[in-house]
This record gives sequence, structure tokens and C-alpha cells, in this order.
Amino acid sequence: MAEVHDRVDSLPDGLLGRCRTMPLPVRLLMCPPEYFDVCDVKNPLMEGQIGKVDRARARAQWEQLKATFEACGATVELIEPEPGCEDMVFCANQTLPGLDADGQRLCLLSRMKHESRRREVPAFARWFEAHGYRVELLRTECIFEGSGDAIWHPGRGLIWGGYGFRTEPQAYEEISERFGVPVLRLKLTSDRFYHLDTAFCPLDEKTVLYDPPAIAPEGRALIERVFERVIECPHEDAVERLACNATPIGGRHVVIHQGSERTVRLLRDAGYEVHEVDTGEFLKSGGSVFCMKMYVF
Ligand code: ARG
Repeated sequence: MAEVHDRVDSLPDGLLGRCRTMPLPVRLLMCPPEYFDVCDVKNPLMEGQIGKVDRARARAQWEQLKATFEACGATVELIEPEPGCEDMVFCANQTLPGLDADGQRLCLLSRMKHESRRREVPAFARWFEAHGYRVELLRTECIFEGSGDAIWHPGRGLIWGGYGFRTEPQAYEEISERFGVPVLRLKLTSDRFYHLDTAFCPLDEKTVLYDPPAIAPEGRALIERVFERVIECPHEDAVERLACNATPIGGRHVVIHQGSERTVRLLRDAGYEVHEVDTGEFLKSGGSVFCMKMYVF
């Protein structure tokens, strides 16, 4: 049965404690940026960037990101890049992998908004199938962009579901049903934050980093209710450097694009080991650390 909440009024008491526990994934899937490029404008960050990607720099930045994930204790798995799939490097978007109510691996395939990105999905379907997942398509005919918008609560069977620019809200009823978990739905307010992972980054079971103005008030109230510790990302860091598009690993490390001094200080003060990396070439396409990997359970 689906359980989707949009407002705190409908939240049952102690929701988080009622949700089953989930492992914190330390396996990450990445896609080498062989064919990475900016060929069109799918989000405001891509404006003025067509043809401006420096491939050699992108490659070096990607290698450095991979090495940083590994230094944080993650195991990185690779998927073969496909020619003509210039956004495939953003492998948070094509699927939503997780564990269903029986603890079985389930991977839901995305229905991407942009035609050019639909071509990326079959390769991910094959990868997850080959790695022990049951791979399924949503019956609900709507746009769904995987874990760019649907983000697991660290350590709990609960999903945060963003919508407004890519994923459509009706996707979440079925996602809740398929994984057997509640979904807390968050409406995004600005197309600069077109995926939930550009504005919201749960760091561990108790802590979240997020940019309040990017989320509609009802969603903000949900976030403030469920997380014990809320770190507000300075808006300028979120806008200029996608600081909320960070990646927590193992509940202790946080990998983030370089230069967001205030955010980094807030994270360090909260006890995290912060690793800054340069993802500048990928910011030209509207993506950074979080969307350049997929958590694999
Ligand atoms: N150029 C890509 C797009 O607009 C970037 C995707 C970044 N992914 C993310 N989860 N934020 O689709």
C-alpha cells in the first residue's frame, strides 16, 4: 500500500523509528566521462555552456572524484560509457535502486524527461540486472528521474521525493508501493534546483544539509520535523557551487565541490570529514558530486 506525505499534519508520530533499517551503501557506480559534453540546455546551469567542456580537464576531475570516493572507503564500480550519451556520466538519474520490503534488490528504471537522456537507461538496466537486481519499469506513465529526485533517507526505509521540474509527483505513489516504504514529497521552487539532489542532501539518519528557499514551505516543515539536526546551506553556496549536491559516505565523510567555505565550515563543525574536489567541468552541465555516482545496495 502506498504511503505518501506532503505535509506534517498527516505524518504519524515517530515515523522514522517505524521505518525499517537500511544499510548505508559504500558501493558506488560511476560512468567514465568519455563522451561527456554540453550539447543543449536542459537546465539553467547549462546556459552559455554549449561546446565549452574541456574534455581532458573533465577526465582529470572525474578521476580525482573517483579516487576521493575510494579514499573515503567506498568501492567504485564502473559502467561502460556509450557514444552519443553525453549526460551518462550523471549516473544518479537513470534508475532508483534499493531494497524492497523483503530485503530483495530492486531497481526501478527512470522515464527521463529529455529524449537524449532516454538513450542512457537501457545500459543501466543491463548493469543492474547483471548485478543481482530485479529491474522494473513504473506502470505510472509519468516522468521519473531516479535518484536525482528520489533520495533514500540514510539508514532507513524512507524516500524523499522531489518534484516540480523533472519527476512528476504522481510517480511517488507507485514508488512507495514498490519499495514498501513511505515517501515524503518535496516540491522544488526554482528551476535552478531542478532535481532534489541540487538542494537537499541527507547526511545521516539524523542530519540533513539543505537550501531552504529551494523547497516549498510544506516540504521545509517535513524536513524540520524528521531530521534532528538541520544544516542550512548558505544560499549562495547552493546556487554558485551546487554545495547541496554533495555525497556522504559511511555517515562520516562528505565529498563536496570545492570553494563553499561557509558550508564546509558548517559541516566540519557538525563533525564530518569534508573532502573538497573540483567538478567545475560538470557544473557546466548542472551536475556535481552527488549526481556523478549512484549508491549501490
Ligand atoms: N545535464 C544533466 C541534465 O540536465 C545534468 C544532470 C545532473 N543530475 C542531477 N541529479 N542533478 O539532465
